[in-house]
Amino acid sequence: MKKFLIVLISLVLMVFISSCSGEKKDGKIQDDLGTKVANKSEILLKDETDVGEMAKYSDVAENKSEPIDRSFENAPPLIPHTVKGMMVITKEHNLCLKCHMPEKAKAEKATPMPQTHFTDYRPQIVENNGMYKVKAKEGEITSISTKNKQVNMAQFNCNQCHVPQTNATVLIRNTFKPVFRNSSGKGKSNLKDNISEGVN
Ligand code: HEC
Ligand code: HEC
Repeated sequence: MKKFLIVLISLVLMVFISSCSGEKKDGKIQDDLGTKVANKSEILLKDETDVGEMAKYSDVAENKSEPIDRSFENAPPLIPHTVKGMMVITKEHNLCLKCHMPEKAKAEKATPMPQTHFTDYRPQIVENNGMYKVKAKEGEITSISTKNKQVNMAQFNCNQCHVPQTNATVLIRNTFKPVFRNSSGKGKSNLKDNISEGVN
């Protein structure tokens, strides 16, 4: 009887332990809720220890930073300097504007934000007898510019598009090679002038 009890308890324990571990018999990995996530061989990053050391963000001061070539023509430029103390960005609180607003940029030796960031490209909605319609023709690019004054609120959140750089190890090398129609496109944008390219 005693022997039978010990066998029973060890069996229950074995079942319990195997159900706790993330890996099932069929080689699938489960998440915390028990959902099958992927085959073991498909998991590239199991946890942070796989990346080696923690990624470290650039701590280069703004005035010491070297601009980075654009990733492709009119790509949002990467942030070459530290962003320490500048996050979180809200509609009311944005330290980036202190240096990149056109009227401040020169004194700070920073590139001014382009005209596109002060322009609303969304077609206006007009009401007519309780009916709403878009005030633009098919294929028409509408734009309302505030001439460098008011940042368009569709673009207030700078780090949605502009990102700082780290020394993170990349497991899969990016082999994309950009082609610039004009070599000046490597260092500055001209989206404002050719935004309707290919539309009309
Ligand atoms: C203290 C002033 C200062 C602040 C604050 C600041 N920057 Fe900069 N930024 C600079 C300077 C100076 C440069 C280097 C010159 C240049 O390329 O514009 C630069 C470069 C850049 C560039 C590269 C521009 C290019 O054409 O390659 C981007 C993008 C940028 N900053 C975005 C940001 C964002 C986003 C923030 C907020 C998180 C921010 N900056 C905050 C001064 C500042
Ligand atoms: C929705 C994406 C997006 C957001 C949000 C955004 N940008 Fe940009 N930014 C771009 C793109 C795309 C370009 C290049 C094309 C252009 O001129 O618009 C650019 C260009 C720039 C440039 C380089 C201008 C030049 O002449 O080369 C600066 C500086 C810049 N942005 C700063 C900012 C700052 C500061 C904010 C936050 C207030 C911001 N951006 C928000 C997408 C964005």
